[in-house]
Amino acid sequence: MRTRTQVGIVGGGPAGLLLSHLLALRGIDSILVEIRSREYCEARQRAGVLEDGSVALLRAAGLADRLDRQGLVHGGIYLQFDGQRRHVDFRDLTGGRTVTVYAQTEVVKDLIARRLADGGALEFSVSDTKVTDLDTDRPLLRYTDAAGERHEVVCDAIAGCDGFHGVCRPSIPPGVLSTWERDYPYAWLGILADVPPSTDELIYAHHETGFALHSLRTPAISRLYLQVAPDEDIAAWPDERIWAELARRFELPGWTLQQGPILDKGITPMRSFVSAPMRYGRLFLAGDAAHIVPPTGAKGLNLALADVAALAAALDALLHGDEQAAADYSASCLDRVWRSTHFSWWLTTTLHRTPGADEMETQLQLSQLRYVVSSRAAATSLAENYTGFPVQLTEGRGRGC
Ligand code: PHB
Repeated sequence: MRTRTQVGIVGGGPAGLLLSHLLALRGIDSILVEIRSREYCEARQRAGVLEDGSVALLRAAGLADRLDRQGLVHGGIYLQFDGQRRHVDFRDLTGGRTVTVYAQTEVVKDLIARRLADGGALEFSVSDTKVTDLDTDRPLLRYTDAAGERHEVVCDAIAGCDGFHGVCRPSIPPGVLSTWERDYPYAWLGILADVPPSTDELIYAHHETGFALHSLRTPAISRLYLQVAPDEDIAAWPDERIWAELARRFELPGWTLQQGPILDKGITPMRSFVSAPMRYGRLFLAGDAAHIVPPTGAKGLNLALADVAALAAALDALLHGDEQAAADYSASCLDRVWRSTHFSWWLTTTLHRTPGADEMETQLQLSQLRYVVSSRAAATSLAENYTGFPVQLTEGRGRGC
């Protein structure tokens, strides 16, 4: 079946879903296709820290009802090293900036519910997605729907929001993109546990057996991570071993790590990746399709949301005959992308133990951590990067945000 829309969106993660909503606010039609089922998208465990700018964006787009009720506002983090736990006070260091703990899965659920309530075109469980004719002003989105019917959608533009392994980036001809990549020699073993968090704010721990992070989802559910080998077999980590290792890495006199049933566990690889430009003809890449950060610092979701805020404005301009904003889209995102890429790399390499590294590396890491908690300038740099930089909330031509 051959149909027509203004913007074809590939990928039903937070980037694609928010873009379809922002476009709808601007009176722009889109269709969003996703290879996974709705249930899979809503269950996928990812990070859970929103920068102030992301919260402001979701609020301005009318998507923050549940976020405002259930999100947990945090004014700092703890850094643990040298057998001590030190607080970094973001509010004090940045003139009041905070972050909000609210899981990416919840953002996705809110977005899907809103798009469906608004009559948005979302197609889950599609297959054989292809994007072609990208260097014309009528790019094509082809896919097979869940019932097996083949579709060809004639678009004005296509948004590739389909993640690192998606089909959009590889559809750009060879030689167009420059890429920069770093794989880290470790991974994260993450658990979701049915136990109240043992901390009021996140703890990032540097330890001789490896990094650990105590995060949370709700006042009743904890999220914790352990540095493990990149090829680690999850079967080698029964629940008791996970809790014992977490207790060891967070150990502090007078403090106890509360333990409870593990609801979910998984291993996350760690990679930094940037490809540029984020546009080829009428194909625009956003989020993980264009860049990946390691999870330390929780920047991935925030970058994806900032990308699509810029993309909605650029596409609105393009569809009204103004090519300049579309031409500027990539450069307008890449400053933020590189800042977050650097920050995530810095936090990752400062806190993790590199297998085979000598004592020199450990001493350099500890020196840096001591500097962060003793110098206001160094702490402010951490706080500013962690809480993030403002996201531009642009006016739509119609009812936009
Ligand atoms: C999480 O809650 O999943 C999380 C929080 C902070 C990070 C990474 C992940 O730096």
